[in-house]
Amino acid sequence: MIFRIARCREGGKITHYDQYKVQIHKGMTVLDALFQIQDKMDPSLSFRYSCRGAVCGSCAMLIDKEPRLACRTQVSTIKENDMNLKPFHHLTYSPEGWDSESEVLIEPLPNFPVLKDLVVDMTKFYDALDKLKLWADPSTEEGPRAQSPEDRKKIERYVNCILCAICYGSCPVNHEQEKYLGPAALAKAWRFNQDTRTPNQERYLNDVQIAYGVPMCDLVMNCVKACPKGVAPGGAIKKMKS
Ligand code: SF4
Ligand code: FES
Repeated sequence: MIFRIARCREGGKITHYDQYKVQIHKGMTVLDALFQIQDKMDPSLSFRYSCRGAVCGSCAMLIDKEPRLACRTQVSTIKENDMNLKPFHHLTYSPEGWDSESEVLIEPLPNFPVLKDLVVDMTKFYDALDKLKLWADPSTEEGPRAQSPEDRKKIERYVNCILCAICYGSCPVNHEQEKYLGPAALAKAWRFNQDTRTPNQERYLNDVQIAYGVPMCDLVMNCVKACPKGVAPGGAIKKMKS
């Protein structure tokens, strides 16, 4: 199968696309295909990965115009294209010569500057977490902070976030608005607001009401469709809006 891969050697934006013929085997993931290309055809190809098991969040990229984890996407399922995302430029732009029926298209995650090939600069994604101070403040109480299984269940889906930034890369508002904090940071604020062990629970809700926080979200819900861990950030944002 032919893989058409976006390349960028100087930083910033995609400069061109290269094609590689990959030998496909049963159960092969997109990350396996990238390893084959890097090992056997082009050692200069750059991409991020670590766990290879959908845990570290490093390998997010655009695969046939859908933002996905490369380690979790089997090559045999790529052409199903079932996310049904609201389109914006990166999802609709078709590079010259791409045969969408027979070729797999691999591009960097949208809404971030490209450092090299499929490696993007995630600074603004992490800055949003930092800006909202998305951690539990120290408690003045002695001893462990106990939590009931019922209360834990309420925050479970948000705790599962692996910070892959797929929600950020799939969001048309992040595409338009450079300052928008993005779905993952806002969902994490809701998680700490709902966490019974967190002191100052209200501060998280207050902090996200800034102009480029919750009010900027248009509830498009691409983040809910694309999140590989079922976090559904848009649902949390909707609750914070109301
Ligand atoms: S909310 Fe989902 S898509 Fe967004 S960073 Fe977390 S795991 Fe990734
Ligand atoms: S390599 Fe860790 S999530 Fe894909």
